[in-house]
Amino acid sequence: MLKKPRGTRDFLPDEMEARRDVEGKMRKVARCWGYREVCTPAFEDLDLFTMRSGDGIIEEMYVFEDKGGRKLALRPEITAAVIRMYINEAKVAPKPLRWCYFADCFRYERPQKGRYRQFWQFGVELIGADTALADAEVIMLAADMLDATGVTYDLKIGHLSFMKNLLAALEPSVQRRVMAHIDKKDSEGLASTLCGVGQPDLATSLTALVECRTLDEAFDIAGRIPDRERITQTTGMLDAQGVKYSLNFGIARGLDYYTGMVFEGFAQNLGAENQILGGGAYRLAHLFGGDDVASCGFAIGFDRVMVSLGGVPPVHDPVVGLVCTAEGGPRALEVARVLRQAGIRTEMDLMERGLGAQLAHAAKGADYAIVIGRREAESGNVTLKNLANGEQKTIDLTAAIAEVRAHGAR
Ligand code: HAM
Repeated sequence: MLKKPRGTRDFLPDEMEARRDVEGKMRKVARCWGYREVCTPAFEDLDLFTMRSGDGIIEEMYVFEDKGGRKLALRPEITAAVIRMYINEAKVAPKPLRWCYFADCFRYERPQKGRYRQFWQFGVELIGADTALADAEVIMLAADMLDATGVTYDLKIGHLSFMKNLLAALEPSVQRRVMAHIDKKDSEGLASTLCGVGQPDLATSLTALVECRTLDEAFDIAGRIPDRERITQTTGMLDAQGVKYSLNFGIARGLDYYTGMVFEGFAQNLGAENQILGGGAYRLAHLFGGDDVASCGFAIGFDRVMVSLGGVPPVHDPVVGLVCTAEGGPRALEVARVLRQAGIRTEMDLMERGLGAQLAHAAKGADYAIVIGRREAESGNVTLKNLANGEQKTIDLTAAIAEVRAHGAR
């Protein structure tokens, strides 16, 4: 028997309905904030992701050569693709651009609960706004979106300027390595890299920075930060709006393109794979042949949100099982059409079963049965049976539709 590839999942209808419901809640919030959906290809030129995505992601990529000899990669994330699209298609559009996306990404990681090789992100990118309010907007949107799903989480906000200040004397490649150690909380790796470049003492101030929880302390540890005013303004706006977060200057992010504010969300009820959101301010456009446009965005790990929410019952529209005798068949088809036009989920028997067997089958999945026999076919009425309590009445179709709809509204 063939099986699905490792790290991928199949989704049965109940789970898909629950996923679409949660996705819909995120979509609604994004729309209210003015973020409109975009879509990019599932694969891109490999170079797009090797330029600035960071070694971690590059090692995990699904890379292949097509029949024309082009080096391609399945997208491991969507930000780089969105910025490539912005340069190709929308460079001259009025700024800022507010875009969102919901799409699958592919990373060759070791699979476990909450960590997959194909997973979905709901993300947003705000392109072309370089202000404290822009940073605050993206963070407030992230919080609103997570709140809408009902997940309980901790939001941690940091800024890369502090760490970059401390690492200013190191080569950019060493800075990246140090930040990757901090991102992975790998203190041994950190110590050995710093020793290797003759800067073992930096570990002490880096540790102090990672552990400090107030802006004042961070400014004391890291020295003069050019973005000081903007950071203070952004956090001030978040405080004024009652956004719940804690400061964390150890956030280094696994991707290399971030330049300023960075933030991550952690589900309170998940274990190892509890990071459900990551984002920050970044600059990528100039690397892909565009202007040096400031951007800020985040992506929510949709599958982890679903794991955190547990078995969310799917939103259940009432279902009608249409049951008919051979004489009632033509009228039943008409009734089914009217019900479907009224937006009611209607399923007809396709197995040529008898009336009793049709009713028994309807009782397994439907909320109501509508029975059309000879009497109903002649009178134009329908027999509506509530399959939960067994109540049954013969009424006209309009009244039956009203009753089924009322069930849905409960
Ligand atoms: P990221 O932190 O690499 O950021 O991924 C965002 C989220 O995707 C993570 O917080 C996590 O919830 C989820 N995720 C990552 N890998 C997996 C996996 N193997 N299985 C399940 N979920 C996973 C980005 O991708 C950036 N593009 C975010 C961004 C947007 N920054 C600016 N704009």
